[in-house]
Amino acid sequence: MTKLPYPTIDVPKNWDRGGLPAWTYHSPALFALEREKLFLTHWQIVGHECDLPEPGDWLAFDLLGERAVIMRGQDGVIRAFHNLCRHRGARVVDGETGNCRGAIVCPFHGWVYNLDGSLRGAAQPRSFGAMKREDFGLKPIEMDSFHGFLFIRFSPGPQPGIATLLAPFDADFASYRVQDLVPVSVPNRASDLPVNWKSVRDVDNEGYHVALAHPGLQDLYGRTYRDLYLKNGLSMSIGWYGDTPGRLWSVRNYTRISPERTDLPGHLQKAWSYYGFFPNSVFTMTPEGVQFYHDIPLSEGMTRLSGRSYRWPHETRQQRLARYLAYRIDRDTSVEDQQLSIWSNESMMSDAFEGFHLSDLEYGLRRHHDGLRRILPVMSLAVAPPEDQIAARNEEMSCPVQGRA
Ligand code: FES
Repeated sequence: MTKLPYPTIDVPKNWDRGGLPAWTYHSPALFALEREKLFLTHWQIVGHECDLPEPGDWLAFDLLGERAVIMRGQDGVIRAFHNLCRHRGARVVDGETGNCRGAIVCPFHGWVYNLDGSLRGAAQPRSFGAMKREDFGLKPIEMDSFHGFLFIRFSPGPQPGIATLLAPFDADFASYRVQDLVPVSVPNRASDLPVNWKSVRDVDNEGYHVALAHPGLQDLYGRTYRDLYLKNGLSMSIGWYGDTPGRLWSVRNYTRISPERTDLPGHLQKAWSYYGFFPNSVFTMTPEGVQFYHDIPLSEGMTRLSGRSYRWPHETRQQRLARYLAYRIDRDTSVEDQQLSIWSNESMMSDAFEGFHLSDLEYGLRRHHDGLRRILPVMSLAVAPPEDQIAARNEEMSCPVQGRA
């Protein structure tokens, strides 16, 4: 078995094989806590610098009532702002991506902002009396980057800066030359699934199901696949193709066509590798392309599956074809996973459901649940508290016990 250069954590010997209780998948009150204490306080990936090559290029990112716009300024610097006009709160840009030529003009009453977010001027400024322009710039949002990938965080949170958080991925990202990526022509894919976001993560956080549920992946690399656990809530999965010719059309042709990447370290040359970070995002790297995907919760029962895809510049015809075949394999895998997420989420409503009983091969799922319980200890309760007491119970359980020696 290939020895891998990652600082991995072993699966403990005697671990609790249960998972989160069913009520945590359909409680509106718990979902409100997840919004406040998890999603708004943890880094969210929004794109890559290459998505914004020119001044005025922007990406929008919505998360649970918060709205961000990430824009390249006239000075070349990329900044993140709330997509919220300081006059009456309209979106200053509408859509997923676009370009503001020279200035951002709010579509409601026409306030004009510079590309660095500062207010250039209100429409009919004398109608506002005395007003200091510098007090009305777009509100900034914390942003960080890693090998060109851009991350935002709406509120301060427990994770360190992105370079520290993702340090165990640094060597691989450098090897893949992630900084040099360019977007593919149809970069964004999104679909809404009627499940709690954790049901999507639960499926994605383990490879035990690959052998049976994903004929394409099993054909491609299933014999070699393994999950790895790293510090800071990071995880990796990796599988190697090419030891068999492949039975399925896409796999057989991908295996035949996928170009040699002799510039990569040996363990990545014929690998599909996945880099996950808490709580809801994954990068995928193959020899011909890079993607990220993330589960964006819309409500306790609805999740948007979204992501963006990239390639390397100067792509050859062979690389393009391999990328298309990889996309076909991924597309089937995603459809298969979506059905599994729906079944899993449905089961949480059944009186017959007694919770998970997990294999060592599903430790990633348990680890994710442990991470959630550290932030929201109320999730440890087997029986749901009344909805109107969930926040208070969580507060009590979060406080250290007073007065003990
Ligand atoms: Fe933007 Fe009025 S809300 S100009």
